Amino acid sequence: MAKGKGKKLPASSNSPECVKVVVRCRPLSKGEMSDGKKSTVNIDTKRGQIAIKNPKLDEKEPAKQFTFDIVYNWNTEQITLYQETASPIVDSCLEGYNGTIFCYGQTGTGKTFTMEGDLSDDKTKGIIPNAFDHVFRAIETSQDDKKFLVRASFLEIYNEEVRDLLSKNSANTKLELKENVDTGVYVKNLTSFVVKGVSEIRNVLAVGKKNRTVGTTLMNRDSSRSHSIFTIVIECSETVNQESGDSKIRVGKLNLVDLAGSERQSKTGATGERLKEATKINLSLSALGNVISALVDGRSGHIPYRDSKLTRLLQDSLGGNTKTVMVANIGPADYNYDETMSTLRYANRAKNIKNKPRINEDPKDAMLREFQSEIARLKAQLQNAAGSGAGEAAGSSARAAAAAEVTEDDKEQIRREVEEEMRGKGDNLLTPESKRKLEAESEERCREAARNLMQEQEKLRREAEYHGRGERARAEGG
Ligand SMILES: Nc1ncnc2c1ncn2[C@@H]1O[C@H](COP(=O)(O)OP(=O)(O)OP(=O)(O)O)[C@@H](O)[C@H]1O
Ligand SMILES: [Mg+2]
Repeated sequence: MAKGKGKKLPASSNSPECVKVVVRCRPLSKGEMSDGKKSTVNIDTKRGQIAIKNPKLDEKEPAKQFTFDIVYNWNTEQITLYQETASPIVDSCLEGYNGTIFCYGQTGTGKTFTMEGDLSDDKTKGIIPNAFDHVFRAIETSQDDKKFLVRASFLEIYNEEVRDLLSKNSANTKLELKENVDTGVYVKNLTSFVVKGVSEIRNVLAVGKKNRTVGTTLMNRDSSRSHSIFTIVIECSETVNQESGDSKIRVGKLNLVDLAGSERQSKTGATGERLKEATKINLSLSALGNVISALVDGRSGHIPYRDSKLTRLLQDSLGGNTKTVMVANIGPADYNYDETMSTLRYANRAKNIKNKPRINEDPKDAMLREFQSEIARLKAQLQNAAGSGAGEAAGSSARAAAAAEVTEDDKEQIRREVEEEMRGKGDNLLTPESKRKLEAESEERCREAARNLMQEQEKLRREAEYHGRGERARAEGG
């Protein structure tokens, strides 16, 4: 099996940098082998070169040569590709850069295999599950003065509509794309979950995968009929001044993109729904191609990001504030020569896209900042409601329970309110019956006030411990 070559895409820097492009060639499939298909591709992993021969031309004709940052052949292990190609981007996201990893290529060439792979098998799991392990391992081993908050969302673009894969009703909820100066293009009302470990984020992936649109074609039994984007937002707050407790927050956003494959109807045999999907897939992929060309030839200032949902969502990844890696997936078989050539040309052009990544420091929409001010607000509220001891109750449920006692002043106030209400209704407060009523009603309201206090304190305690983890869903950006 191929071992790591010791190559690694370069680590973080703040200067403009080109999109990194690597190519991965899958093995001939069983079907291709039994049909007697031949490989037209020759891969030189040491030099990062691919040579491809046109099967229609004479054997003696020279092969076409392409050079990329890294090339992978049919026996490259998933972990090798992860460590060399994906891991530097994930490290950058942990430092506060935006990163995008996307797989591009003809249908059936291994995009989903590369992004996801077999989730249940350590050896064949792909970039997404490896990134989960990486992110949470880094958080576990980070220094104490750093606090992290991780959120995940998952969407697909199906037939040019954006769908929330984490929503119960994903097929029927079409989401809108919005844009604002601070956050750029975002999806309004997209669900995102705060996740505190690998098993939680894997659950998020599993829920979304069930909703993703997959169909069978002649080229791929499990063909992705949509483009999908799994996004992990990593917020990190670091104390910069121990005395004042001042902190800075950095936010890195990691987009893991599994595109639907380009396809020809004559090969996939697509009809009906499959054909309609294929038309939309090919349209958005050519919009992506046009954006890449416009960025690279530099003659026109206009970049047609608005021509498809895919290019709008990837706007920051192509020519913007993101570190981007493109994995171009190809198949080696002779009958796919034209598609393989087209992928290699596409990938070759993408190498020249320049991005301007920078660390996102203290962005306005940082959720950690929201949590911090929410905690401060709750503390102040508790201090008001239950005397000085209450404000410190955040860390201790025992103290929280004690502080949930409604004070004598509060009880008096509640009693006066009830009295006034009763008078307003014309009750004669001198009769024994109305006195009993006043006592009973006041007691009930005091109990309710105590319950509310308890809930507030429980909320405060959970958020102080980082922070409302688990099921907290949030509409991002909207
Ligand atoms: N490097 C590889 N090694 C072994 N098997 C692979 C490799 N790449 C892809 N395959 C197999 O090839 C088949 C097609 O792969 P996959 O579904 O990932 O293609 P795809 O590019 O996502 O296609 P589509 O565009 O139709 O979604 C799968 O059975 C997958 O397991
Ligand atoms: Mg796929």
